[in-house]
Amino acid sequence: MLGGRILHGGDYNPDQWLDHPEIFEEDVKLMKAAHVNCVSLGIFAWAALEPEEGVYQLDWMDHIITRLEQEGIQVVLATPSGAMPHWLTQKYPEVMQVQADGRRNLPGKRHNFCYTSPVMRQKITEMDRELAKRFGRRSNVILWHISNELGGNFADSVCHCELCQAAFRKWLKKKYGTLDNLNRAWWNYFWSHTYTDWEQIHSPVPNGETTSTALFLDWRRFSTEQMNDFYQLEARTVKEYSDLPATTNFMYFFKGLDYNRMKKGVDIISWDNYPFWHKEKDEVPTAVKAAASHSLMRSLNQAPFLMMESSPSAISWRQHNPLKRPGMHMLSGMQALAHGSDSVQYFQWRKGRGGFEKFHGAVMDHKNGSNTRVFRDVAELGERLEGLGELLSHTVNRPKAAIVFDWENWWALEDTQGPRLDFNYVKTILAHYRTFWEQGIEADLISMDASLEGYHLVTAPLNYLYKDGYAKRVREFTAGGGTFVTTCFSGMVDETDLCFTGHHPLYDVLGIEQEEIDAPSEEFENRFTYEGTVYPAQNLCEIVHAAEDTEVLASYETDFYAGAPVITRHAFGKGRAYYLAAESGLEFLRDFYRKLFVETGLENALKTELPYGVTVTERLGEDGKRVIFVMNFKNEPVRIEGTGSWTDAETKAAYDGTLLLEPFECKVLI
Ligand code: GAL
Repeated sequence: MLGGRILHGGDYNPDQWLDHPEIFEEDVKLMKAAHVNCVSLGIFAWAALEPEEGVYQLDWMDHIITRLEQEGIQVVLATPSGAMPHWLTQKYPEVMQVQADGRRNLPGKRHNFCYTSPVMRQKITEMDRELAKRFGRRSNVILWHISNELGGNFADSVCHCELCQAAFRKWLKKKYGTLDNLNRAWWNYFWSHTYTDWEQIHSPVPNGETTSTALFLDWRRFSTEQMNDFYQLEARTVKEYSDLPATTNFMYFFKGLDYNRMKKGVDIISWDNYPFWHKEKDEVPTAVKAAASHSLMRSLNQAPFLMMESSPSAISWRQHNPLKRPGMHMLSGMQALAHGSDSVQYFQWRKGRGGFEKFHGAVMDHKNGSNTRVFRDVAELGERLEGLGELLSHTVNRPKAAIVFDWENWWALEDTQGPRLDFNYVKTILAHYRTFWEQGIEADLISMDASLEGYHLVTAPLNYLYKDGYAKRVREFTAGGGTFVTTCFSGMVDETDLCFTGHHPLYDVLGIEQEEIDAPSEEFENRFTYEGTVYPAQNLCEIVHAAEDTEVLASYETDFYAGAPVITRHAFGKGRAYYLAAESGLEFLRDFYRKLFVETGLENALKTELPYGVTVTERLGEDGKRVIFVMNFKNEPVRIEGTGSWTDAETKAAYDGTLLLEPFECKVLI
């Protein structure tokens, strides 16, 4: 646990108030009152730190770090590349990103720099070096925060300038060696797309190449690596003068960057969490999405992560922005901890008087000082976190189930012309994750590169693209006793979107042969019966053939493919593999996984049925310590029966068999 405690605080942007020292003094005083122990400093402060090229003004920051140190408040110190000063863009236009249509951006906004530009790299390196020299060894500085939400505002998160094009070609040369290899891997013989000169290769853009899916894949891989290279340059620079770990704040399911590649060199994963609470009365879909995002971030390094940002109140960038209703601030903070976060950090400490985000929720509002509902909510949570630090230190969730979620599959699936053009991979993943969440079974969200060791159950919905080595790992996992589940339209293509010929790469494990795939309109919806219940077969209905030793658990009931298998189970080595040939609804997924959990010995920590809206997670210590979080996402009390005996970690109350939770309550049990 970084700094030995659960971090509580968040983005602090005092560069807006340098002419008001009294505000800073008030901030420090009220941070103490709000149980804030850590701030993220200087995230967008480049203009204040280097007002003119080569002229550095770091004294104000020194004063702030020193005062915070006196008050026992730690600092996550940011590098300021997230927003460029005007002197930089005016003098060196090449630092600004070029859009897909070839137009260079004009100055303004933020998150809009070219990550290849040598000038940008040099200027930020010089700035970072100054910061690191001065503050890299200060006792209360605990972590480097490199830039901010890399890729955040980029159209499709990338830059199309000539420097990036040249770097892309270089990257391709390294990967393929010859144009012949590249043409073959990308299937460029179709539509005369054969390249005869490397210079002919251009990034995919709407008024250019929009049809080469292999090009899209490599361009996205390159863009991620180039962004990671930029991250690593900054991290390396600040580490020249300090031994601190570094992070960069990720964004939930962000399609633009493959966080499994971006995590290279990221010592501690962190991310920014802005769920749409109170979007509807049923909070479950929002809670599931936030939970899955936490699980994804934890799974990247299989370690505790930091929730680097969240709003203490409303946000300001959706069409309408509800306030957090009473109880939700506490619950959403606890939810982060429940899935492995070691922090609850906010954007931001104090609302600015002007600028784009002046109405975005902050701990300190424009009016009323600390006498606000939000401030009291924040202080209450902060106090609770102080009490939980020791209990949670050296603990993290260690699920026995995993869902394969892979960016390359996401890109390829949604770019391909196939049975559907409206694939929504994240939505599908969330539907599967939701059935786990509802039953209190935590799942990791892992890439195809991850080890499968230790899991009982691995499920891979819509796993269209197979990376090299993945099929082998699944085969070993299943042979060794694991249960593997996958669905229609899986195992279709390799890493450059070339179709597998002959068989599905795991046909022997799954015990099926795929033949055709139907994407029926609603009127042609099919159905199947599983364990006595009839379910719809919709969206995608694959026609597969079962091998002789494969059990067919359900079949299509109408239309010309009536009788073809919908659910199969095949024993392989010591394990078994399921194939779901058709898509169905949430009802089916719930019933299917419920049975599977029993079969694979997975149960929630309370070993009981959970009411709707309630979930349970568990953090484990190396020493066998177990900490259980029971969360009620309903705005009404719930009663859980058959829970066994537990002690409330905070109140020390004993519970025997029954748990009562207040609206939006989270209990921590040991
Ligand atoms: C984040 C960003 C913050 C702030 C926040 C508002 O994406 O990192 O700087 O803009 O959104 O919700």
